[in-house]
This record gives sequence, C-alpha cells and structure tokens, in this order.
Amino acid sequence: MTTYTLRQGSPDKTRADVVVIGIHQGSTGTKGGKGPVVAEGGEAVAKAYGRRFAPLLSSMGVTGQVGEAVRVPTNGTLRAAVLVLVGLGGRSDLDEARLRRAAGVAARTLGNAASVALALPATDAEQVRAVCDGFLSGSYSYRGVRSKPSSKGGVSEVAILSPAARQKSATEALDRARTLAGFADLARDLVNTPANLLTPQGFVDAVAGARPRQVSAEVLDEAALAELGCGGILGVGAGSANPPRLLKLEYRPRDATSHVALVGKGITYDSGGLSIKPASGMVHMKDDMAGAASVVAATYAAAELGLPVRVTAYAPLAENMISGSAYRPGDVLTMFDGQTVEIRNTDAEGRLVLADALGMAAASDVDAVVEISTLTGPCVVALGDRIAGLFGDDGAVADVQAAADRAGELVWRLPMSEFTSEQVRTESPVADLLQHNWVRWGSASWAAAFLKEFVRDKPFAHIDMAGPAFNTGGAWGHVPAGATGYGVATLVEYLSAR
Ligand code: BES
Ligand code: ZN
Ligand code: MN
Repeated sequence: MTTYTLRQGSPDKTRADVVVIGIHQGSTGTKGGKGPVVAEGGEAVAKAYGRRFAPLLSSMGVTGQVGEAVRVPTNGTLRAAVLVLVGLGGRSDLDEARLRRAAGVAARTLGNAASVALALPATDAEQVRAVCDGFLSGSYSYRGVRSKPSSKGGVSEVAILSPAARQKSATEALDRARTLAGFADLARDLVNTPANLLTPQGFVDAVAGARPRQVSAEVLDEAALAELGCGGILGVGAGSANPPRLLKLEYRPRDATSHVALVGKGITYDSGGLSIKPASGMVHMKDDMAGAASVVAATYAAAELGLPVRVTAYAPLAENMISGSAYRPGDVLTMFDGQTVEIRNTDAEGRLVLADALGMAAASDVDAVVEISTLTGPCVVALGDRIAGLFGDDGAVADVQAAADRAGELVWRLPMSEFTSEQVRTESPVADLLQHNWVRWGSASWAAAFLKEFVRDKPFAHIDMAGPAFNTGGAWGHVPAGATGYGVATLVEYLSAR
C-alpha cells in the first residue's frame, strides 16, 4: 500500500528519497535566448543550489521540454538523495494536461525510491488534481502472469507539496484522484488479462469482488438472453466454448437528478469469427472488452464518490470465435428490440452485442445513453491511436466533449449522418438493417449510424476508442503501456456534471 499526503513544505527540507521539481523551457530569441528555468513549487530547490543550479541544468542537458526527465544525485544539497527534473514546456503554455503528463513521467523515473516528494506546480485544487491524476496513472504497470513475483519494491510514501494543502478543495482533489485511479487500474487489469483467463463469465466474476455495496448487479446467462431475444449477443457468442453473458449494474442514489445508461462493448476475444482477422490483427484482441471494463469501472467510481446520478450500466460479454456453431456472413439475427440484421462480416461483431444492450437501455427510462467501445480499426486510421472518435447528437456530444476535456482524454467528433442511417436502413435485401457494407471508406460512421438505430430517440453519444484503449508502444506521459484505462475518467466527469 502506498500512502499519499498533501502538505505544505519546502522541497529542499523535505525528508524523502526523491524530490521532483518541474523545469520550464527557456525562451529562444535570435540574440541567444534565456535558458531553462525552475517551475513553481521548485524555487527552494533552485535556491539551495544557488549559482550552481543553471550549470547543473546545462551539464545534464536539461531543456525543460515536455516528456523530459532527468535524475541527479544531490550530494547533500537537499535532504533528499536524488532530484528528479521533469520538463513542463514553456511557462506560459502550462496547463493541466502538461502537468498530468509530467507527473506521469516522474512516476516512472523514481528508480528504487521508497518515498517521493512532488514539488510540481500545485497552487490550486485543479493543479493538485492534475499532479495526482498523472502520478497515479503513470505509476500503473500490469503485473502480468509470471511464475516468479517481481522483486521491485515500488514507492510506499508519496507527498504532494502544495501551498493549497490546507484547502478543502485540494484534499478533495487528492481523494477523488485516488478513487478514480483505483478504478482506472481495475479497468486496466481487466483489459490486460489474457483472454484465456478472462472469459465472459470470468469478467463477471472478476468485477464482482470490487463492486461497491451501493451498486447492484444482475447477470443474464445464455438461457436468460434467449428468453429476452438477445440475438446479437447470442449470435456473436455462438462460436465459442465460453458462453456469452450480459452484466447489468445499477447505482441508484436517493438524491439522483437524472438517469444515465452506460453501455460498453465486452468482446473478451475477437478472432474476427469466420470473417477471420489476419494473424497479426489478432494479437491484441484481448483488449476488445475495454468498453465494458470502462463502464463497470466508471459506475463503481460514481458510487464510491456518491455522485447524485442514477447509472445503469450494460456490459454485453461474448467471445468472437470460430467453430461449427459460429454465426456466418449472410445470417440474419433478431435483436432484443425486434429489429432484424443481415450479417455481412462476422468481424463487425461489436455493434451486434451492443445492439441488444442499447435496445434495452433505450426501452428504459434513461435521460441519455453513452456507449464506449473498441469498435473499428477505421476510426484508428482516421484519428491515430491516441484520440477516440466521438459520434452522436449535438447535446450528448457536447457533454462528452466537455467531460473528456476536463478528464484530459482526447476525443474528436466524427460524423453520424442521416444519409448513412438511410443506407443502414435500406441496403439489406433481406433484413431491416444492414450490419456492414464492405465499402472501405467511412466505416466508423457506418458503425455509429448502425448503433443509433437501437437507441431511437434518446440523447446518444458513442465513443470509438479502438485506438486509445490499448497502447501497443511504450508508456508515455501519464499513459501506461498496454491497457490505458481510457474512458473511465471521461465517463466519471460526464456523470459528475449531470
Ligand atoms: N475489435 C475490432 C476493432 C479494433 C481494431 C479494435 C483494432 C482495436 C484495434 C472490431 O471488432 C473490428 O474488427 N472492426 C472491423 C470494422 C470493420 C468491419 C468496419 C475492423 O477494424 O476491421
Ligand atoms: Zn471487436
Ligand atoms: Mn471484430
């Protein structure tokens, strides 16, 4: 267990193995600009070094650019043995996003330290929050499935130094960041868990242990799904030896002012089915339940934070596999709401399990439906792997966009046009709706328009996080390698604003 404390105090006198300060980039004028400078919070460290500070920065090659981190022994200049300098970019460009990234970088630059003091800019609750968010997120790494446990100790004491330490808003920011980080880590662990160890029922079992008592859970097995006519979930799950499930969670506080449905794609493994993926495209497909993990984590966090909003979360869980019982291209499935769908591509399975869940949500008394999924590769082609696509009606999209901005997660709106809906509704010669049309362009929008058919007239936002859910490269800023926990913070912000 790591303890976190928020306190006032001078970083030069703080007892800790490592002290972290920020460095701003200097100005670059044509007549030789000024060098890098210490950021707010680290002044006392610069003062302790006195005239040796600028030469120290230059001898270590410190420039203050974003992402930079340098460790230096203090040789008695500070009480801490090691000083970590993290880049914050230009002073006038400092915002919460940069602070979050820098704090994340700091978390991975601590070596074998047991205690750390963060003396980054933290003058108000917003900055305290960004520092805590970033540090906590940057500290995550997946333990993996190893026969021998790792011997790396990790930090046990973290002190956040802030002149606002005694303000209630600042201590609340720390508490909230810790709650959120705990649930983001839950989502990451679920997504990182190999698919042979996390089947649909395995997912249900794994999240049961972390469920706050304010949240109730209902699990529909294949018999219950058949009873309800959930043809999408059953169709996609038909080829797997691990039967599908629908996990439904409910958080219903007494003081709720609105009711939101959260829906998350829960494909525990996506082989593509009979429309099989190329071998390399399957490697990370254990991540295809990241949407389900995010909505569960966000619902749990909302309950733990006591947010005054009623939340019903739907996690349709299935494994998309190949066998004699698998669904086929050309099949027609009947969804929960009675609409029939012609299958053209068994690898476009996410929209099918979501169709049932969205239909259920739309039939309830919710005020808005927010859905999140690792839905389409084409969305990654459009936006890259750090930005999620955001689709939906203006109101719901604006709310999600604002929430993502506050959470520091990147989204970009993409179109979900009436003419695409028209095509979805008219292009199948045999069913009400066409699942997929094999046209290579605009297929993230086709998927969004397809989902919309099941939400009918409820305010609706769809987040396609096929890119940012899983980081196949190395950790950067506050974003860990592997599962990123993307979406949890945005969904919680969204719920907080209701
Ligand atoms: N799970 C995939 C999408 C995906 C791709 C997630 C890459 C994460 C990384 C999804 O089920 C899928 O296969 N989508 C198709 C969409 C296509 C049929 C429009 C794809 O990406 O090819
Ligand atoms: Zn998928
Ligand atoms: Mn697929």
